[in-house]
Amino acid sequence: MSHILSAVAWPYANGPRHIGHVAGFGVPSDVFSRYMRMRGEDVLMVSGTDEHGTPILVAAEEMGVTPQELADKNNRIIVEDLVALGLSYDLFTRTTTVNHEHVVQQMFEVCRDNGYMIVQDMAVAIDPETGNTLPDRYIEGTCPICGAAGARGDQCDNCGNQLDPKDLIDPISKVSGKTPEFRVTQHYFLDLPALADSLGTWLDSVEATGEWRPNVISFSKHLLEDVRPRAMSRDISWGIPVPGWEDQPNKRLYVWFDAVIGYLSASVEWARRRAAAGIGSAEDWRAWWNDPEALSYYFMGKDNIVFHSQIWPAELLAYNGEGDKGGHPGALGHLNLPTQVVASEFLTMEGKKFSSSKNVVIYVRDVLSRYQPDALRYFISIAGPENSDADFTWTEFVRRNNSELVAGWGNLVNRTAAMIAKNFGEIPAAATLEEIDQQLLDAVSGGFDTVGDLIAHHHQRAALAEIMRLVGEANTYVTRTEPFKLKAPEQRSRLATILGVLAQAVSDLNTMMCVFLPHSSNAIDRVLGGPGDIAPMPQLVEVTDLDNGAPYPIITGDYSHVRPWKSVPVVPGTPIAKPKPVFQKLDPSVVAEELERLGIQE
Ligand code: MF3
Ligand code: ZN
Repeated sequence: MSHILSAVAWPYANGPRHIGHVAGFGVPSDVFSRYMRMRGEDVLMVSGTDEHGTPILVAAEEMGVTPQELADKNNRIIVEDLVALGLSYDLFTRTTTVNHEHVVQQMFEVCRDNGYMIVQDMAVAIDPETGNTLPDRYIEGTCPICGAAGARGDQCDNCGNQLDPKDLIDPISKVSGKTPEFRVTQHYFLDLPALADSLGTWLDSVEATGEWRPNVISFSKHLLEDVRPRAMSRDISWGIPVPGWEDQPNKRLYVWFDAVIGYLSASVEWARRRAAAGIGSAEDWRAWWNDPEALSYYFMGKDNIVFHSQIWPAELLAYNGEGDKGGHPGALGHLNLPTQVVASEFLTMEGKKFSSSKNVVIYVRDVLSRYQPDALRYFISIAGPENSDADFTWTEFVRRNNSELVAGWGNLVNRTAAMIAKNFGEIPAAATLEEIDQQLLDAVSGGFDTVGDLIAHHHQRAALAEIMRLVGEANTYVTRTEPFKLKAPEQRSRLATILGVLAQAVSDLNTMMCVFLPHSSNAIDRVLGGPGDIAPMPQLVEVTDLDNGAPYPIITGDYSHVRPWKSVPVVPGTPIAKPKPVFQKLDPSVVAEELERLGIQE
């Protein structure tokens, strides 16, 4: 048994999340975590909302509320959506907890004392119209590296390079459209050059495993060709105070030294909450962070790779004292670097980039209000942006739902249960197995190895396609054995065998489906006469901050009773009632309705 950390990117709480977000970080991390738990591993899956920073501050000012009020509102919406999708976080928390602030400041102090946080002058941009500091991403201009227009001050989406806003050609403020003024103030910088050798050694070692997606490795190595110190504080009044600079409340730690540390602080919070409830110790998080045998997988969209393959590992190395300047870890102990950064590509929508401001957006909440959560999980898992950009279209969503989920898997479940209910009322015992029976049983049970291996290596599309191929084999078996024609009394034993074999095949396939389609796997378990709890579900729990008592909702769950990742024999004699379909067939008119909502002409 291994300790496996599933570290899931922290969604911004500046608004509700759209399906592109959950396709990038949400569903893939849940599939992986569920599989690892079924395999018997000790999984800790953590995340939370990223609530600091300018987008929230600017939006709150526009709405006339405090940034905390806006963060509270969006945090709750995001938590509700992720629970409804069935994402099985051990803890989904937020960056505005006292616990998070403490862990961040602890890390900051040790990185600083080890010599990796250096104070430097920085030119900051001021909007001449508002007089406020303009954060990097609120400045736009031409990329000084690749020449693309519309590069942001922090990063160019065209070439992927991190930028300094003052290097932009013809910069303008996105708030006012005016040319920003640059002033010089002091900030803390992470001394990346002093960490570059160690980062390079680490990247070489992870590359040698052959497990990382090649694009993630090459992107990360490319970043190391030009390392400069990166600012870890900003001129902003909303964020975690900089230790030692408490007298300068307008300087706060930046997202690069805030949300990324959430993986660690959420692990600490998880252990503290359990200890407070009388389970284990407040130090239990260390099994995932200090034990060098523990594994950690980070899930995100590709725009987040730099956070996870450079900045976060550099901070961990700085904390551990493993850069050119040496040093020692603090009370958090020697911390593990990521085992793997699993980044997905982008999801587009009807051929366009998602954009909330242009109404090119489908919010998770809206999909879940009209369709089954597993219909969305199915689409994301079978056609999502795993290794290349992928497009969500309503036509494809409806087609896949109807012809694959309903007509393939749903139909197999339904006709198996219906024939059993009608002829026996309970799962019949299979008598003598013929070759065709054994072939199906072997093919399906063989899926545990092939499908499991694909999921373990982050090939989830291929894994689900393989399950669906086996569903197809089971449907072919029905066509070839024609159990619906076996009506004579002397055929009853053959009928029992076929339906017993089908019950076993459906049950095994449903076990594999647990990771992709947990809601319907539970429903199908009930169809098969089980209790319907084979895929444990997350819960929204109202808690209070462990340190200052502020109330907030978390996602957590008890995932200890999972079905093992193997064939579990069905029990002959289990009563089976006439089934109701588990999956909803969608009317083709859905496509036109949804396109109209988006203002798109068919
Ligand atoms: N909230 C940021 C984003 O969505 C960062 C998420 S990853 C984290 O891009 F590591 F910073 F949490
Ligand atoms: Zn560029």
